[in-house]
Formats: sequence, structure tokens, C-alpha cells
Amino acid sequence: MSESDANAMNLKVSTGACPSHLGPFHKLNDSHPDLYRKLVIDAFVVKYGVYGFFPKAYDLIYLSDESPNITFSGRTRGRVAILTSSSYNMVIKPLQNSKEAEIATRAGKLEVGPNQFDSLPGFLSEEYVSGKFINDNSANHDIMPQPVDIGIKVGSALTKLHENQICYNDTTLSDPEKRSHLIINQAGNIKLIDFGLSLSLNEYPNFSIEETFNYVRTMPIYRLFSAMNPTREDVHSFLKSYQRTFKEISPDTIYDRDIQFLTEGLQLMGDVLTEPDKTDFMKGFYEAYKR
Ligand SMILES: Nc1ncnc2c1ncn2[C@@H]1O[C@H](COP(=O)(O)OP(=O)(O)OP(=O)(O)O)[C@@H](O)[C@H]1O
Ligand SMILES: [Mg+2]
Repeated sequence: MSESDANAMNLKVSTGACPSHLGPFHKLNDSHPDLYRKLVIDAFVVKYGVYGFFPKAYDLIYLSDESPNITFSGRTRGRVAILTSSSYNMVIKPLQNSKEAEIATRAGKLEVGPNQFDSLPGFLSEEYVSGKFINDNSANHDIMPQPVDIGIKVGSALTKLHENQICYNDTTLSDPEKRSHLIINQAGNIKLIDFGLSLSLNEYPNFSIEETFNYVRTMPIYRLFSAMNPTREDVHSFLKSYQRTFKEISPDTIYDRDIQFLTEGLQLMGDVLTEPDKTDFMKGFYEAYKR
């Protein structure tokens, strides 16, 4: 064992100061110290951490001749791992809500979101959607379709989701930090990524507290309420009382929020789209959007 491996072993796991790639395994140091020691110095575990144990990633990491590249992204939901190789690319991300896996699977089958692969509890494993974000004006303008055509594709994607009782609830075309949930591929087709805030209306008007929170969190009334530094109990009773009001909120009102976020996002894209482009986008959208 090299000196650095020995140093890694000597870190006090009980204080949480274990090597970062071993976070999920650190209890093994108590129960199976021999196995833990092997993991500390295993080149694949050092490089890929837990990600190599996801079924689709296992093939890529342990069974192929080539070592995939791994990079990390993600903000709200935590660490998003992106594995790229010449055979395929994939993403592994922690779930952001308890129904996300089910909703993302439905969206994948509808070809609106990334295809979902077998995963491990608490995470999604999904197809990496290659292409560019709609707000990426850096280069390769030749692959950017006309705004009207993007609008048509977004209109038909949201139609499919709404027909299947899914409110996407995060149609972020471009946020103030230039992040987006809309990817356009080389062929000009689009996919929406990140179903972390999406709502299934299969049981409308019954929504869980978590779903109620995902619905209200962006509303002015909730922002105002949060600014008053509510206690956990206050938040819970606010959500409980909002939860009861869903029977007075029509499904149409809920689905409308996808269109509202879309139009708000367009307004933030002045550096990529001109005013006529925005009008064309929405024209395309309404041509395709059916409810
Ligand atoms: N399936 C995917 N295909 C391609 N890129 C992806 C995919 N999923 C996630 N990403 C990339 O990782 C980033 C973060 O993923 P995601 O949006 O799911 O997490 P997040 O925590 O909500 O991050 P953010 O706050 O930036 O939206 C995305 O903005 C995108 O760049
Ligand atoms: Mg996101």
C-alpha cells in the first residue's frame, strides 16, 4: 500500500472525514474492514465512486475496454454524474421527488424526456441527451432550428405530457444563470430534461405535501410567506391548507403553468432571440399545442 493509500485509510471515518469517493461505503470500515481497504485503493472506485455499481454504468466501466469520462453537474438536486464514452453516454442523478422515477419513465416512453435505464434506489439512470441548450448562442448556429419549429416541437412535447396527466412544472428555457431544460439535437429534435419538480395528475385533486410544495414553491404567495422566516410547523400547516384547495384548482390551471413558465423564460432570452423570434416561437407553440 502506498503512503497516500495509507493516509486515506487513516482518515477518521467516524468523523465523516473519509475519502470522498467512499462516502456511501464508509460504514464498511467498521463491518468489513478488509473489503473497505480494497475499495480505498481500487482504481475504478477511486475514479467512479458508486457510479460503477449502476447496471448500465457497470457495463461501461467494468466490462468495456475503454474507460468512460466522468464529469459532474447539478445544483438543486445534488450531484449529477455524466458518463461519456464512444459506445454511449449516460447520466446518474439523485431523485428530487418521490414520484420522479415513475414520471421520468413515462416521459421517456413518450420521447419527451431521456430514456430511463434500470437504476438503484434513490437515483435515476438515464440517457444523456446530446445537443445544445436553446439558450446556447456560443457556436454552431447551423444546428439551431427556426424558432417557429422549436415552438412546434415544444408544443407537441407539452401536449403529450398533459395528455398523459403530467405537468412538467419546470419549463425553464433559460434562467438568469443561463441554465436550461430544453436540449435541441443535431436533427433539430428536442428533449426536456429534469422532471424533478413534475407533478402527476393521475390522482388529482389529491396531492401529497411534497407535490403541494413543488406546486407552490415558485408562487408569489409562497415567496412572501418564506420571507417571513416561518418555522417548520408553519410551513407544514401552510402546505396542509393549500393541499385542500386543489379541488378548486382545475387541471387546466395546473397545466397552464407550463405555458406561463415558458413565456416567462422566453422573455429572458433577449440575447438569443429577437422579439419577432419570440413571437414565431409562440406561434409555433400554439399551432402544435392541443388540450
Ligand atoms: N439526461 C441529460 N442529458 C444531458 N444533460 C443532462 C441530463 N440530465 C442532466 N443534464 C445536465 O446536468 C445539469 C443538471 O441536471 P438537472 O437539471 O437534472 O439537475 P438540477 O440540480 O436541477 O440542476 P439545475 O439546477 O442546473 O437545473 C443539466 O442542466 C444538464 O446540463
Ligand atoms: Mg434542473
